[in-house]
Amino acid sequence: MKIAVIGTGYVGLVTGTCFAETGNTVTCVDIDEEKVKKLQSGIVTIYEPGLEVLFERNIQQGRLRFTTDLAEGVKGAKVIFLALPTPPDEDGSADLKYILQVAEQLGPLLEDYTVVVDKSTVPVGTAELVHERIARNAKVEFDVVSNPEFLREGVAVEDFMKPERVVVGTRSERARKIMEQLYAPMVRQGNPILFMDERSAEMTKYAANAFLATKITFMNEIANLCERVGANVDEVRRGIGTDSRIGKRFLFAGIGYGGSCFPKDVQALAKTAEENGYNFRILKAVMQVNQEQKTKLIPALKEFFGGSLQGKRIAIWGLSFKPYTDDVREAPSLENIKVLLNEGAIVKAYDPEAMENVKKILGNQIEYAESPYGALVNADALMIMTEWPVFRTPDFEVVEQLLKNKAIFDGRNLYEPRQMAELGFHYVSIGRMK
Ligand code: UGA
Repeated sequence: MKIAVIGTGYVGLVTGTCFAETGNTVTCVDIDEEKVKKLQSGIVTIYEPGLEVLFERNIQQGRLRFTTDLAEGVKGAKVIFLALPTPPDEDGSADLKYILQVAEQLGPLLEDYTVVVDKSTVPVGTAELVHERIARNAKVEFDVVSNPEFLREGVAVEDFMKPERVVVGTRSERARKIMEQLYAPMVRQGNPILFMDERSAEMTKYAANAFLATKITFMNEIANLCERVGANVDEVRRGIGTDSRIGKRFLFAGIGYGGSCFPKDVQALAKTAEENGYNFRILKAVMQVNQEQKTKLIPALKEFFGGSLQGKRIAIWGLSFKPYTDDVREAPSLENIKVLLNEGAIVKAYDPEAMENVKKILGNQIEYAESPYGALVNADALMIMTEWPVFRTPDFEVVEQLLKNKAIFDGRNLYEPRQMAELGFHYVSIGRMK
């Protein structure tokens, strides 16, 4: 099938590459000339494990192309995916200007029946708005389908190729058949394509992300309480996670969720509720708790240094909002660094992938290390912000030699408190006894 993908951000690039891998001919369109030039010359513009192999193979075999020309990109495409950004407005609602602008331009370009697919996370009712914009200038029949994406950064290719489910919002039989055909290779193991109306599909995406953000936040509050009553959140997690109604995943307490999705989507859903006269109380609490959770370790750190961080050298392990990505959007690390710098501390950080992105934001306000141990030289304490595997089993003798104080503040619960006590570390983690 001939496909066009408009927008080569995270979702667009993965969508385009994966559909090329299943034998379709894909043209990806982006207005960013520099980015398109890079992609044309075979450079993958995002860090995503497993993507590069597919990307190179499909370019080589002529199934994956890139252009800045919308008309050329969509020519002959049976399906057009819109994978455009929906950044939050000042008031937290999703800004649809990019999507609607493209929709408006698409109308006159359609030459035959086309399925236009909303792949971005868009508020309920957007499919109808997109339909209306295209219809203004369209001369042929078309359908607008909502097909939200559930892939996670870091495992995006696997999530895309083997999704637990595919959600397709359309009431058109014709569009349904085409979407079924397109996704057939992804649902061979019997995982379902769930067809529903457009609005329900749009709502499903927000409900999924908001639920997961709530699940994590609930565990963070349980962790905060565990600390006060002398319980261990790891044990509680195992205890409740074995109940299949609750499930094992997304129960890890820590210094809060970040990334380009959960924070934005929770905020946008709360805004949708407000606009529709509904006070979504849980979401408000989730946002507030998560914000406070991010810098939860700071008071303990200050206390360790007798109340002031002035002139203290703090090593940070992990900058990305989670492992296996270079993404630092809404990352707890940035919030912590901001506080540390305000309090007069000196920060030296190490991250396997995200340092370049942090340099773009913070420049030389902090120091960057070439290795995990490099960050520790002469540091007064270590803070852990992201659970990259490379931090999981350090040589604690080396850590001890390099740090001025044997003090670790761990926002991701990487080590066993008992082992750390035996090794003589001052070890503070989340929701566990010292
Ligand atoms: C999330 C969803 O998981 C995807 O299904 C969705 O498609 C995506 O948003 C999106 O809307 O595009 P992602 O933001 O890549 O994916 O990251 P997650 O793996 O979900 O992690 C989100 C945050 O939650 C991270 O900061 C992570 O550290 C935190 N987290 C996750 C916890 O604190 N505890 C957990 O148990 C799990």
